[in-house]
Amino acid sequence: MCGIIGYVGPRVAREVVVDGLRRMEYRGYDSAGVAVLDGGAIEFRKKAGKIANLDAELAISPLPDTGLGIGHTRWATHGGPTDDNAHPHVSANERVALIHNGIIENFASLRSELVAEGVVFRSQTDTEVAAQLLGREVSAGADLAEAMRTVCRRLEGAFTLVAIDADNAGRLVAARRNSPLVVGVGDGENFVASDVAAFIEFTRHAIELGQDEVVDVTADAITITDFFGEPAPSHPFEVTWDLSAAEKGGYDWFMRKEIYEQPKAVADTLLGRYAADGSLKLDELHIPASELRSIDKIIVVACGSAYYAGLVAKYAIEHWTRIACEVEIASEFRYRDPIIDGSTLVVTISQSGETADTLMAIRHAREQRAKVIAICNTNGATIPRESDAVIYTHAGPEIGVASTKGFLTQVAACYLLGLYLAQVRGTMFDDEIHAVMTELAATPPLIQQVLDGLGPIKELAARFVGTKSVLFLGRHVGYPVALEGALKLKEIAYLHAEGFPAGELKHGPIALVEGGVPIFVVVPPQGRDQLHDKVVSNIQEVRARGALTIVLAEAGDAEVEPYADVLFRLPKVSTLLQPLVATVPLQMFACELATLKGYDVDQPRNLAKSVTVE
Ligand code: G6P
Repeated sequence: MCGIIGYVGPRVAREVVVDGLRRMEYRGYDSAGVAVLDGGAIEFRKKAGKIANLDAELAISPLPDTGLGIGHTRWATHGGPTDDNAHPHVSANERVALIHNGIIENFASLRSELVAEGVVFRSQTDTEVAAQLLGREVSAGADLAEAMRTVCRRLEGAFTLVAIDADNAGRLVAARRNSPLVVGVGDGENFVASDVAAFIEFTRHAIELGQDEVVDVTADAITITDFFGEPAPSHPFEVTWDLSAAEKGGYDWFMRKEIYEQPKAVADTLLGRYAADGSLKLDELHIPASELRSIDKIIVVACGSAYYAGLVAKYAIEHWTRIACEVEIASEFRYRDPIIDGSTLVVTISQSGETADTLMAIRHAREQRAKVIAICNTNGATIPRESDAVIYTHAGPEIGVASTKGFLTQVAACYLLGLYLAQVRGTMFDDEIHAVMTELAATPPLIQQVLDGLGPIKELAARFVGTKSVLFLGRHVGYPVALEGALKLKEIAYLHAEGFPAGELKHGPIALVEGGVPIFVVVPPQGRDQLHDKVVSNIQEVRARGALTIVLAEAGDAEVEPYADVLFRLPKVSTLLQPLVATVPLQMFACELATLKGYDVDQPRNLAKSVTVE
């Protein structure tokens, strides 16, 4: 939530900053702003709404070409999305401009303290207290980095801060606690940003800033300390993708592009993780096999689509490993008293690696000696760094707010983990593992086959532009697919949509069925799955009550034909792997419907991609 960027170097900072903000707009789009330093004075422009509004403001009232600047795109927490509440915030004495991502929980008491000193606030934000405190410190003579450390020691909550000081040309200072920040290392220029996408055009060399650290940045030097001024170790890494991955490449939406990237994203996630004989090779899993053998319970914690990927994982992990597997929403997990000990394995799933609730959940688990394995798409993010081991999904950057390739690669990574645990614990024979792995490795062309057959989806979506409510039914792993299909519609088409386990239909949901209600049904594979016939009966039940049935069933399944108003054929795969093919038409349906309704598919209202606050 909130994208922040800072630049120092020979380029025109305003341009670097605004372009960087454009690539991070998925993090929040309630307002945008930029500040530069010009001959010892801070100049800034900020506007409510999307970056286009800031562009218009800059066209009317340009900022000078200087080599130091900061910028921010906001997802509002404290104070509405107005011009005044937009960042940067400039201290009353005009010494510093500051941007912030996170929530300063003790801002009210700090604000009272400053008001008592006569400071006049110009916004309703929690952020402005940090700007005012910093302004007070530097005007009292503190060095900018020392002032930042002093301020950070007083703040509670989650924050990434970046500041420039009118008296410090060519220098910016940033700090982080519980919110993301990476440093981009250039040649005679440096960057700080919430996400490497902001500076990938200029450098692939990056440094992760650790928890409770301050970085002091000039064009030629980067100095990292903790909040007490002690030198902190640097954690450099290389970004493995390039600018084209963070651009739309001819598609109307990032989401559509990302849906089409799924065959490659799944293939890349599987690549190098199995041998020719089908045995699993998870070299990155630095947890000794003896420890993996002593696990007696697995808890998967995640939020949003990642939670649904976890629900799929439960079916596979329990079936393959015979270890009890619970799945829990991270924000619930961390505030109850879960039964965890040294023989619990917590698997955390997060595309961004920054989701605040998921991060807090793993801290909670590790405090109780559980081992934590992260499944994550973002190199250097906080969640993998704070876990015992990580399996990276290699989806490339996901920019559309609604997760698509992120979800599918999470599901693929969960299968890898499940099979690996079965291998280590000996709960499957080698030839069984080989058979599943061979089938899994063959799924990318099948996902492509689904994509190639999506033509009629747009036509289907056109029939539902005026629809108020859509239901999704599934059983077994088809249930999380139904939940994910419903979530996509809520997120981007602003449509009431619910996913139900088909077996629960008669316990309530069937009362929602009336003439013309569209119901998507994910049908398990025919013949090889005991639930197939039960789901076919459910289709008949809702159709008898007037529902319009949109059925996803595998090729050759003739039994569903009489009851399907609309039929989508899925490639033949075994039940456990079906989510990899069955989710895709549901993603595209949501994308097409939202497009037809004229909504911004990549930046849906009220949402942000990286939820870095509770
Ligand atoms: C937000 C996004 C969802 C995502 C969820 C979890 O709500 O809009 O698409 O599934 O966060 O994100 P994570 O980065 O932890 O996977």
